[in-house]
Amino acid sequence: MSAQAPRRGEWGSQIGFILAAAGSAVGLGNIWRFPYMAGQNGGGAFVLVYLVCVLVIALPVMFLEISLGRATHRNPVGAIRAVAPRSAWRALGYLALLTGLGILSYYSVIAGKVMTYGALYIRKLFIGEAVTYHGATFEVVIYFALFIVLTVLVVSGGVQRGIERWAKILMPMLVLIMVAIIVRCLLLPGAMEGVKWFVTPDFSKITPRVILNAMSQGFFSLSLGMGAMLTYGSYLSKKDSIVVCGTSVVLFDTFIAILAGFMIFPAVFALGGNPAAGSTLIFQVLPKVFGGMKGGVLVAIVFFFLLCVAALTSTVSLLEVVTAYFVDERRWSRRRSVWTIGGAAFVVGLPSAFDMAGLRPWTSMVFLGKHGFLELMDFLWGNLSLAIGSLLLCVFAITVWGLNNAGSEIEIGSPSFSRYRGLWIFFIKWVCPTFIAIILASKLFS
Ligand code: PHE
Repeated sequence: MSAQAPRRGEWGSQIGFILAAAGSAVGLGNIWRFPYMAGQNGGGAFVLVYLVCVLVIALPVMFLEISLGRATHRNPVGAIRAVAPRSAWRALGYLALLTGLGILSYYSVIAGKVMTYGALYIRKLFIGEAVTYHGATFEVVIYFALFIVLTVLVVSGGVQRGIERWAKILMPMLVLIMVAIIVRCLLLPGAMEGVKWFVTPDFSKITPRVILNAMSQGFFSLSLGMGAMLTYGSYLSKKDSIVVCGTSVVLFDTFIAILAGFMIFPAVFALGGNPAAGSTLIFQVLPKVFGGMKGGVLVAIVFFFLLCVAALTSTVSLLEVVTAYFVDERRWSRRRSVWTIGGAAFVVGLPSAFDMAGLRPWTSMVFLGKHGFLELMDFLWGNLSLAIGSLLLCVFAITVWGLNNAGSEIEIGSPSFSRYRGLWIFFIKWVCPTFIAIILASKLFS
């Protein structure tokens, strides 16, 4: 089972894994999706439920996913096959691949929009043109395609090279610039209303929908439930501590999401905006913030650049999951895999791009809903599929792989885990699957 395919790499060090996994976790999920979800789901109430879900459900699942990856040294499909050859559980691996492709498709559309804003502010700096986002179809599609190409280029070089180096300097920079923007926003008159709204839970707002969205946001933000952490864990060495790695990623990711909340909501309340605006929230608010800021154009350029990089380290992990499958299992070359999958993501993402370009009537015909196509994709892949994937992973570990095997894998490299092993097993066996199943069911059947 541990026979490693010769073509597989390994992280340079434990910190290499942490940086890459944190790079995967931190992205548009924290800065674009978390505020938009919190805004639509009751503010402080959502934040509270989110934190509980991260601690109680996501953290144990994080250990599980990384450990299955490191135990098997495989992609999601291969990992399951290594544990249970020829079983129907392989479907769970394929679901992970599909989810990766699904998320990659619309995520790159949003990332393209972030790039467009960066470009608009650069133009403003040099030509002094006003910053207005037109969202012409052509423009949306070009930036979307450009972002996929960037992702393809990074992944074709292999994950280990590149990411480790970039993440080390750019992630701390992202934190710094966010803190600067927060300080500025808190000084705006009326900002405290937003802070209050963000930190005070109104318990009457907690509904099954809010709980499902908060739990799924936890999976989304931590890149769980579709094999990203599994695949990254497969490049981890036995010397490294899964507990240290997993916990660091969870802490850092949660920290950035909370920062993003403090960056957006005080501004929403101070500058007049609707917190429940949906997937366009940050794009409505941030230009106003930069507009009223001394040196705002420069801050905007740096911020959108760093956000692009954060998004890129996430799309890289999405593409890497599917690529690892084609390279390990189908013996495709890395180049052929990345270009083929990138092309597929582009085609699948086109309706989301059209949706963002305002072609609503056309794209909503596809499913006759009031939300746009992009939000539908986000709900299906980003919400449902990750929750289902995480649930099935727990069931797989309980019934097929064995929680003792999982526990032993975690203990290699983190001996002190033996003290919490029983607790962890209890969570994966009872708490996580029960909660995920109830939350899924109560939303789907309500
Ligand atoms: N966690 C990433 C983010 O927050 C998105 C992502 C989801 C990446 C699932 C990989 C897998 O931006």
